Amino acid sequence: MFLPRSLKVKRAEDSEGRAAKRSRAGSGAGAQAEAERAEAERAQAQAEAERAQAEAERAQAEAERAQEAQAEPEEPVKQRSAEQRWPEPGEPACSVCGRYGEYICEQTDTDVCSLQCKARHLEPPPAEPPAEPRAYLEHPFISGLSAQQVEALQQQLGIAVRGPACRPVLEFEHCAFPDTLTANLARLGYRSPTPVQMQMLPQGLAGKDILAAADTGSGKTAAFLLPLTMAALRENEKVSPHQPIGLVLTPTRELAIQIEGQAKELMMGLPNMRTALLVGGMPLPPQLHRLKQSIKVIIATPGRLLEILKQEAVSLCGVLTVVVDEVDTMLKMGFQQQVLDILEKVPEEHQTILVSATIPAGIEQLATQFLQDPVRITVGKMNQPCSNVRPIILWVEEPSKKKKLFEILNDSKLFHPPVLVFVDCRLGADLLSNAVHKITGLKTVAIHSDKAQCERNQIVQGLLQGDYEVVVSTGVLGRGLDLVNVKLVVNFDMPPTMDEYVHQVGRAGRLGHRGTAITFVNNSSSRHFLELVKRVKPTGTLLPPQLLNSPYLNEQQRREQMRNKQRVQQDTVNGKNLMDIIRKHDRSVLQKR
Ligand SMILES: Nc1ncnc2c1ncn2[C@@H]1O[C@H](COP(=O)(O)OP(=O)(O)OP(=O)(O)O)[C@@H](O)[C@H]1O
Ligand SMILES: [Mg+2]
Repeated sequence: MFLPRSLKVKRAEDSEGRAAKRSRAGSGAGAQAEAERAEAERAQAQAEAERAQAEAERAQAEAERAQEAQAEPEEPVKQRSAEQRWPEPGEPACSVCGRYGEYICEQTDTDVCSLQCKARHLEPPPAEPPAEPRAYLEHPFISGLSAQQVEALQQQLGIAVRGPACRPVLEFEHCAFPDTLTANLARLGYRSPTPVQMQMLPQGLAGKDILAAADTGSGKTAAFLLPLTMAALRENEKVSPHQPIGLVLTPTRELAIQIEGQAKELMMGLPNMRTALLVGGMPLPPQLHRLKQSIKVIIATPGRLLEILKQEAVSLCGVLTVVVDEVDTMLKMGFQQQVLDILEKVPEEHQTILVSATIPAGIEQLATQFLQDPVRITVGKMNQPCSNVRPIILWVEEPSKKKKLFEILNDSKLFHPPVLVFVDCRLGADLLSNAVHKITGLKTVAIHSDKAQCERNQIVQGLLQGDYEVVVSTGVLGRGLDLVNVKLVVNFDMPPTMDEYVHQVGRAGRLGHRGTAITFVNNSSSRHFLELVKRVKPTGTLLPPQLLNSPYLNEQQRREQMRNKQRVQQDTVNGKNLMDIIRKHDRSVLQKR
């Protein structure tokens, strides 16, 4: 796939070269001089037998290539960027304009889409020297704020920080990004940083370890990609060009594809900032080939990265920053061992950034084992549904769920396509999708992990482009995906955990957009009742009386009260537990020694 792309650019130039040679041969005097020079060269070639041999070999290779070119006629090389299409997920993108990188510029081994972009890519750098990427220096405006002002600001923005934190920035200008990066931010419509970016950017730029929890759709991706980009820029000259500097791990292939897309947008036009997408379900050889092109940032799902590491097709020993997105799910059983195996391959001295919208206490404890003097950042109300989304909880018995869904899809007030319906199993997704299409006639599709990756990619693209009115999905679309046009999510089946509920609901209200999330509950999800009430009640949503009066909920509340009481008793010093407390203290002192 890559060789022909390389040839195409070369062929265009070869034919120009040949045309130039032909026109020079037309003039008599020029031809004589050419002949004399050739004679002299031949004499020299005889003296230097080795060089002559090499030249002959090269000439033969060129002749073979020319013959090959004649044998298989190819479509003409695209002249202008506008003639080129946009890349499909996983395809290379032009380093200049971001369109499909159909060709490789042979001088720099960089992806380009057309001769126009090749020429722009080879243009000498602008007279004005590019801003020197450097370690984070606090902007004088930020340094000029008093400690109280900073605290008030953080409070207003809902930012809570623990650990050796930098002050938040207020504008992207406070980060001293190079001009190209600033222009890329403007092109993406990022006028000012979101609260999580305000607090994460300075820590990230200063190379600190971060554990950050912020609402779904609050801009966490750019909050880790920008420091990663700056770290890669800074190290451009230092590390061997074949060693990646940044690594981003995600739980799903769709999320990795999306993050790579965003990374490319942010890095467009920056020197030597190539990314590699390493995800399962897509052919391995192009991914291996891509890794040979001085990759700076790898975005991967753990399984495929480990497969590639086993083949020693890439080394992580130059990695300076590791990001684990959706860290709570990445550190659960299933992924945990894979993540640990990958981290073992990364040098000890590296920056770690862990992010998610939900970080339960147990995972936070585990996560801190990977971090050194971390800054813990929380923005908004941790583990709660994003405030852009209106949560609706409906009590619907199992046999009535389909009917209720059809009612919703028929309700003009609620139905804003595309609607994303979450179910708990693959077969259920296919069956429900067929049923919705049959009954409502709406354009419906199911997506789940049994489908081929190329089909999954097409469905996500179709969903983003508004090709479907209803998409029925298992958890594959539940986390991280920026489905900006989805305004209504229906949790047909209650998600497996309340954290998953927060993520699924979050697909309906991305930054600056409002949406609705309807969740069907009944006694089959009784184990979630207490958590559901705790997380949804604070949003002001009316909860169904069947839920509020449920004996399951009453029992869960009673048990929680008991646990709290016991905890208070354990914390209070009395005659009974005094000795236990002293022993516990002694043990901890001994352990510290
Ligand atoms: N500073 C900004 N200004 C405007 N839009 C932004 C800014 N930062 C990010 N966005 C946009 O906000 C949307 C949500 O961002 P992102 O996907 O990073 O959210 P997230 O916090 O990772 O959410 P999730 O928890 O669901 O993964 C995206 O469309 C992104 O392009
Ligand atoms: Mg995200």
